[in-house]
Amino acid sequence: MKISTIKVPATTANLGPGFDSCGLALSLYMTVHIGNETSEWIVDHNCGEDIPHDASNLMVETALSIVPDLHPRQLWMECDIPTARGLGSSSAAIVAGVELANVCADLALSNEQKVAIASKIEGHPDNVAPAILGNFVIGAKLDNADYSVRHQFPDCAILAFIPNFQLLTSKARAILPKTMSYPDAVKASSIANVLIAALLRNDLALAGKMMELDMWHESYRAQLIPHLLPLRALAKEKGAYATCLSGAGPTVLVFAPRKRITELQLSLHNFDKTASVWALEVEDSGVMAF
Ligand code: HSE
Repeated sequence: MKISTIKVPATTANLGPGFDSCGLALSLYMTVHIGNETSEWIVDHNCGEDIPHDASNLMVETALSIVPDLHPRQLWMECDIPTARGLGSSSAAIVAGVELANVCADLALSNEQKVAIASKIEGHPDNVAPAILGNFVIGAKLDNADYSVRHQFPDCAILAFIPNFQLLTSKARAILPKTMSYPDAVKASSIANVLIAALLRNDLALAGKMMELDMWHESYRAQLIPHLLPLRALAKEKGAYATCLSGAGPTVLVFAPRKRITELQLSLHNFDKTASVWALEVEDSGVMAF
């Protein structure tokens, strides 16, 4: 095994109406250094107190679900991706686990196989597919098949407003309705279709309009994320294309013309000084092993 490091990008999922389907890789990373074989799995990390250091670590659990007799190793994880903020930290751990099994057991998995395995574990492809393929990915996970289409996201500034509290995805999913009327589903789907078409032709003004017309999840989740709507109004006033929840939240992403970034960053910072406001880029590479 020549590989000693695995690096996985953060991801934002949904982009508004691309719920459980669309995602974008971002320039924050989980990096895993693979050490020698040991008698038990040891995971040293800076990822937060709640993250296990042994075989119950999500990355190791994922690797063992693929290769149950994988020999234990010493691992070091460095996380730039904040946990439970909607920036794909769990998906990054799952993708790191798939890659760990791949390199340690010489599986030679294709990207398609990695996406299928990781989507099955995560339940939907919107975070894991861009974490594997990089850039912008539109995916569908069906009962017996997975489909992913990768495309270049249009050039723009991206600001992540990361509030100083966590929100578990399970809580943000529990608040969603169980059913939707047929006419509403048709309308919600047409909004998502126009979003994708607009992104494919680099029309961020139209894509931004569609992002903010989401009917699948944001209006329900706004109850848990009270900063979403005021931030949307503020960002719009400062010239942004759009604001959307990053994944299940609570992080909010703002897409804007690059010339607006300084003023926007200052306004978001002044909106809530306890939050972090990070300027991010689209990451073109998915999981890297070197
Ligand atoms: N599409 C998912 C959601 C992303 O919004 O719940 C978080 O897993």
